[in-house]
Amino acid sequence: MGSRILVSKRIYPEAVEYLCERADVEYHDSDKSYPAEELLRHLSDKEGVISQLTDRFSEEVVAALPSLKVIANVAVGFDNIDVEAATRHGIAVTNTPDVLTQTTADLAFALLFAAARRVSESERFLRAGHWQGWGIDQFCGSDIHHSTLGILGMGRIGQALARRANGFDMRVVYHDAVRAPEDIEQELRLTFVPFETLLSEADFVSLHVPLVPTTRHLMSTPQFALMKKTAVLVNTSRGPVIDEVALAEALACEEIAAAGLDVFENEPDIQPKLLELENVVLTPHIASASHTTRSKMCMMAAENALSALAGNRPPNLINQDLFPDLG
Ligand code: GLV
Repeated sequence: MGSRILVSKRIYPEAVEYLCERADVEYHDSDKSYPAEELLRHLSDKEGVISQLTDRFSEEVVAALPSLKVIANVAVGFDNIDVEAATRHGIAVTNTPDVLTQTTADLAFALLFAAARRVSESERFLRAGHWQGWGIDQFCGSDIHHSTLGILGMGRIGQALARRANGFDMRVVYHDAVRAPEDIEQELRLTFVPFETLLSEADFVSLHVPLVPTTRHLMSTPQFALMKKTAVLVNTSRGPVIDEVALAEALACEEIAAAGLDVFENEPDIQPKLLELENVVLTPHIASASHTTRSKMCMMAAENALSALAGNRPPNLINQDLFPDLG
């Protein structure tokens, strides 16, 4: 009998098949996450789990699962997992980087476009039957080409967005805790600037940082005050990076012009004040949602889990301390 694996929520069938051929799989074929207690119960005899960002693995949870050896998250972000606690309990944690980079950057650019050119707002107007004919300043927004894009977090997705921006002749400024290598800065025509400079110079600010204690509410009232009144904020990272109440306030009093949000502080609940505003484009956490990419993410998580359960260092291991490099 193979290793016992729980698939906590619905994934692409090819990944289920791949797992079932190689392990003893319990499959929760549902889009609903197990409530915390049920998840614990289903995991009590498992050695591995294919998890999603709606599953929480706190210190308490991992401590209660002595047989668990690997948490293979179907996401690049892993803020749903207490990685330090997992490491202490000898549990490998893996994610799905790279495969979703381009797809996620595509959606960040789509949100930027939609917010700048008022795509959702004007469509709502048209569908409601309000359109009486062409007007000179109807739904005028702001230009994307030749504007300045500020990217917060110059990792893989930040770089993919910068590539797209180059095609639109945008000036790209960025800020990150760690400066990008010089060859990347040159190739992507990036200018490294302090955080405050980015906020004050950018026509578009796009967030590509992980959710960690230092990035929680990174964007709040003081930051919106530094931004241009014409600026657009885009978030495809994690909801809590933005203080949503402060953002709704900034949008309502036109401290900034618009926002495009794919992630929210309390998903799937949306801050009611945001729902009332016309100048915000809202999508339900779909940045990596192309069939090809989501399928690849599922396969990647399956491979990570099986690799760890075979005693190997899984390809996308986050807690490297579990398999120290000997060479
Ligand atoms: C999705 O949000 C991910 O982290 O992959």
